[in-house]
Amino acid sequence: MTDNVIAAVVNVDIEGPRISRHVYGHFAEHLGRCIYGGFYVGEDSDIPNEGGIRLDVVEALRALDIPNLRWPGGCFADEYHWMDGIGPKDERPVMVNTHWGGVEENNHFGTHEFMALCELLGTEPYISGNVGSGTVREMSEWVEYLTRDGDSPMARLRKANGRQEPWKVRFWGLGNETWGCGGNMTAEHYAQEARRYGTYCRDYGDNKLYKIAAGASDFNYDWTEQLMKQLGHLGCQRVNSSFYHALSVHYYTIAGTWANKGSATVFDTDEYYATMVKAARTDELLTGHSNVMDCYDPHKTVGLVLDEWGTWWDVEPGTNPGFLYQQNTLRDALVASVHFDIFHRHADRLVMANIAQTLNVLQAMILTDPDSKALVLTPTYHVFQMNKGHQDAASLRVDVRGGLPTREVGDATLETVSVSASRKDGRVLLSLSNLDADAAADVEIELRGGALSEVESRILTAGALQDHNTPESPESVAPRAHNGFSIEGDTLRVHLPAHSFVTVTGTVSGSTRGR
Ligand code: AHR
Repeated sequence: MTDNVIAAVVNVDIEGPRISRHVYGHFAEHLGRCIYGGFYVGEDSDIPNEGGIRLDVVEALRALDIPNLRWPGGCFADEYHWMDGIGPKDERPVMVNTHWGGVEENNHFGTHEFMALCELLGTEPYISGNVGSGTVREMSEWVEYLTRDGDSPMARLRKANGRQEPWKVRFWGLGNETWGCGGNMTAEHYAQEARRYGTYCRDYGDNKLYKIAAGASDFNYDWTEQLMKQLGHLGCQRVNSSFYHALSVHYYTIAGTWANKGSATVFDTDEYYATMVKAARTDELLTGHSNVMDCYDPHKTVGLVLDEWGTWWDVEPGTNPGFLYQQNTLRDALVASVHFDIFHRHADRLVMANIAQTLNVLQAMILTDPDSKALVLTPTYHVFQMNKGHQDAASLRVDVRGGLPTREVGDATLETVSVSASRKDGRVLLSLSNLDADAAADVEIELRGGALSEVESRILTAGALQDHNTPESPESVAPRAHNGFSIEGDTLRVHLPAHSFVTVTGTVSGSTRGR
């Protein structure tokens, strides 16, 4: 196939908005084998663990520098009663996890276990409170239990359960999908509830909550508008609301229909391109919600949080349909890399994003085998790892001369090359994805405002889009050094084989200017 040739310009000395590290956030729900049999194997397990938390999982995730972990759901959050998950394990009540497989939940993984997991991972907790079936008092007391120092009923209870010092908790979700599993509310009703719940989630001592209202599904801009209206501003005022500081949105990449989402590993090229069109629509999604927010908050003080994203396929044959266990191929990796380019371009408004989910559920980083207990890193894991230098970096604009190569997919036009760039600590990082299933691409980037040295490149690709990792073949899709690049004067040339993800990083000379 003939290569696509792309010419681009990057001004390495003109820094755009900072890419929040929290767009590389994670999500762990009481769903299938994400918590039980995933993160948490119990203290009696023969798998090495600390307080029941699986240590090889911790080690693998620490290598990603994961910035935050959302818990306990998802839909589960709105039927979770936190007091059931504290105190002696054998006295904790059992409940039914009605959303996910109707299995019994013994509450052995609760608040203390989650906070211990965050400490092991070196990550910030993002707790989703229960609005759907909970009470304002219940949520308010959870905040007090976690974060209040000194003497108070909940602080005493926490101490009685073995934790003297309060924890630091910044990210706090006011419900989840309140338009659906979180209470089936209207936007108008929920916006009032968010103000009410937000009122009673207090800041104790120097712990400052960053409250996130449960936002829209997909392209429901009306939901976003209702939440923005409730903050009481329109036009050029600065929004300074203590009810909530951000709104969320959920968007999954589904190539087929909800009834028939398709297999994670058995798909043809048409399905592959349909998937990429859906993934690329994340740009339209973030632009649409940001535009609505701009009308009420032009100074961008309210954050946008995409706290569930990723691919959603039919479950693997023979597994529990309620457990959402799916394999992960090179296609999933390219979905992730395209999302990150979009996130970097929306750094002015997007403060956080959370892939669904970290372990054994949906587009996971890690899959564990229930029989052999083997741990496998997925192709998606490697994208997070290769891209971690973008966390908290200044975004750099990538201007393309003459446009990117495209392909018609049904009624849609897909750009088959995606690029983003950032600068941090004197290093520039470029991420480049070639989505074309068959043709290679060559990208020629004119670097203005500074020269690159000590350049290194890595590539993630495979013989087929369907390739994936298993305990028998854990490195079928794994990054390796890429020598398909050259640097001559101010021009960086990068060769992108068909269906590949490439990163290029180098030390940059010269100082910077803000945009
Ligand atoms: O991630 C799986 C589920 O998808 C979550 O529980 C819910 O919020 C969403 O519908």
